Amino acid sequence: MPAISASAPGKIILFGEHAVVYGHPAIAAPVTQVKAKAIVTANPMAPPGYVRIQAPNIGLETDVNELPADHPLAITMGEVVRFLGVRHIPACTIRITSSIPVAAGLGSGAAVSVALIRAVSAFLGKPLDDESVSSLAFQVEKTYHGTPSGIDNTVITYGQPIYFVRGQPVVRLPVSEPFIVVIGDTGVSCPTSVTVGDVAQAWRTDPERIDQEFEQIARITDAARQVIERGKTEQLGPLMVTNHQHLQKLGVSSPELDRLVEAAQRAGALGAKLSGGGRGGNMIALVEWDRAQAIAEALTMAGAVRTIITEIKPQGRR
Ligand code: MEV
Repeated sequence: MPAISASAPGKIILFGEHAVVYGHPAIAAPVTQVKAKAIVTANPMAPPGYVRIQAPNIGLETDVNELPADHPLAITMGEVVRFLGVRHIPACTIRITSSIPVAAGLGSGAAVSVALIRAVSAFLGKPLDDESVSSLAFQVEKTYHGTPSGIDNTVITYGQPIYFVRGQPVVRLPVSEPFIVVIGDTGVSCPTSVTVGDVAQAWRTDPERIDQEFEQIARITDAARQVIERGKTEQLGPLMVTNHQHLQKLGVSSPELDRLVEAAQRAGALGAKLSGGGRGGNMIALVEWDRAQAIAEALTMAGAVRTIITEIKPQGRR
């Protein structure tokens, strides 16, 4: 039996992070320059149920039964097997690799889950549709990230720009004109659960103030949706800048993120903001195509440990 492989991209949140956890809309897009990959190879010599997991990026090589029960890979495997009603997995080796930086706001955890769910379900002869893949990946997200909105697993599964509201059917965003975003990594890792928890604490202390911030962010996100659908993307820049200011008020930016956001703007970006959980991780800058390289270099000069230039494309265009 040939090896079965599946991959999943990284993601950026263009607008609406954190507010999306509280039922407000957000806009996200896949980042295909980085990806997680899972390859399942049958191991007919081993007894049924013997599943070897190799994840060289995190120095892991073990029998799946030896993983702690709360390990995300164990949870993911358990979710797939339960969902498919499979009693015994044929013996196999699963190799997981990822080029998505961890705890950096690019969706590395969700991408590993999506790739693994797709590869294992195909290996078991029951490939899952996007809706089931996303919903299983969401179950995994819930176990190690507290109260996720579901946006990461959704955009990574569907692999298209989306307008997302928690608990509502996914809306694929019809992007009228492609636009270019430069992603800058602060090199500081901060798990999403930490900033989501801090925002929850701030909300408990002063719900009125935090709700006002969320409502402003929601207005910006809805305006951005219209701008993207109408192809007036140069108008997105100021919306990004204002969204970043609200995220600063929520306490999820950091000196490193602010430095990169300012550096991008000084170098001529149309707008910039942090992306994802914040307090580290990545920021994004909207740029004109011919300025992308110069702005990426300005980010590196300002301390970015890595930059990615990505195109947010109309649906279906490659
Ligand atoms: C993480 O990519 C985005 C957050 O809004 C968390 C979530 O939506 O689950 C910070």
